[in-house]
Amino acid sequence: MATDASTPLPHSALGRKLQSVVPDLEIQDSEENRSNHSRDHTEDLQFLPDLVAFPRSTQEVSAVLRWAHGEGVPVTAAGAWTGLSGGALPVRGGISLSTKRLNRIVRIDELHHQLVVQPGAIVQELQEAVQAKGLFYAVDPASRGTCTIGGNLAENSGGPRAVKYGVTKDWVLNLEVVLADGTVIRTGADTLKNSTGYNITQLMVGSEGTLGIITEATLKLLPWPQYNALLLVPFADPADACRAVAGLFQDGNQPSALEFMERAAIALAMDFTGDRQLPLAADTAAHLLIEVDAFREADLMPQLERIATTLERFNAGEPLMAMDAAGKDQLWNLRRKVGEAVKAHSTYKEEDTVVPRGHLPELLAAVKRIGTEFGFDSICYGHAGDGNLHVNILKGALDDATWNDTLPTAIRALFREVIRLGGTLSGEHGIGWVQKPYMDLRFSPAELALQRRIKDAFDPVHILNPDKILPDPAQDSGETA
Ligand code: LAC
Ligand code: ZN
Repeated sequence: MATDASTPLPHSALGRKLQSVVPDLEIQDSEENRSNHSRDHTEDLQFLPDLVAFPRSTQEVSAVLRWAHGEGVPVTAAGAWTGLSGGALPVRGGISLSTKRLNRIVRIDELHHQLVVQPGAIVQELQEAVQAKGLFYAVDPASRGTCTIGGNLAENSGGPRAVKYGVTKDWVLNLEVVLADGTVIRTGADTLKNSTGYNITQLMVGSEGTLGIITEATLKLLPWPQYNALLLVPFADPADACRAVAGLFQDGNQPSALEFMERAAIALAMDFTGDRQLPLAADTAAHLLIEVDAFREADLMPQLERIATTLERFNAGEPLMAMDAAGKDQLWNLRRKVGEAVKAHSTYKEEDTVVPRGHLPELLAAVKRIGTEFGFDSICYGHAGDGNLHVNILKGALDDATWNDTLPTAIRALFREVIRLGGTLSGEHGIGWVQKPYMDLRFSPAELALQRRIKDAFDPVHILNPDKILPDPAQDSGETA
């Protein structure tokens, strides 16, 4: 039994029962602990688990699931609670299964450029561990200092570098997964190529803990491109900034980050961080933050020159170039803090819209048009190179009734436009709890039924993160059929 003084014995009936089945499992079920495991970064939602379990091994995860499966107790895996769609919220109570103690970097394989890691490892820590060996794990979400690789796998996270290096799914070779009934499986092989049976690896990535719980991952690594340059480019017209995005690629540029920020996004981040050193000219309405990287310093300047040529065609202002590591950190820190800054500024809802990047100008225009129609302000920023725009809808002066009752109609209007432009509901934050009501806009009843059959095949009694991703069939509108 978990006996150190900091972990008192479980006092709930459920906790005592689980403890009797998995004697060494660390269980916490005090009011305070349950409350500490009830919120992520999604709006101000809160759902309390009945207890929090901290398994230390795959065997313990397996034992928890075997028991929960038999008892019909919900189990929702959670990492660092940085999710933005409510994926880790235990909306039906039960067990919040924390990956906190499953946080080892198991192996860095320098011969094959691979990393074997447990789900609770912090992304920045594993990035630094492989970088110390001259290797590179590219996926770099804004929350990398706290978020876990398990959460990234569950949500198929992206971040700024995805534009050159892809998202989490692109780096996963093989997973160890505990299924709903406690069976432990491997999904693939530690090989770069694999054309062997159904691709359960990719099915697991992005499945938000609804099909199984990942207990180990083998990831691909790259050599570390240690040189980079960073430009902050102002625009008087945000539409020009959006148009420049596709233009940069058409001209053969290959940036390692290409981010868009409306003026309000960077202004809020400056207020939030207290870092107000950046010049923000009165006529600047938006910025692109553009990074290029290389293995040789001499390869940076030609890339910057080529980018400058494109930018001239799109009425860009004078770029600010970060001159040294401190300057780059400052710009990236402001960019990474935008989400938190918006959250601190106002009650808000965030839509993780994504369209083919050439349609970014139409997407931004649609957001503003729908905002005017429904009376809301928005702050937009995100991974422009991927066509991924985080639309932050501000409550501002809207009354509660409008916010609660009318906003879903406005969001449906926005997603209809996103889909008309060839896009989809989430680029990198997942569907989780909050985007479920819009799934019928993207998928037909037949497509949703197929997804429900996949869920049933993996989790017949629906204990794994129940009521996430897939809406109730009664809500299928057939709009896209
Ligand atoms: C970002 C998070 C919100 O891009 O995805 O800052
Ligand atoms: Zn993002």
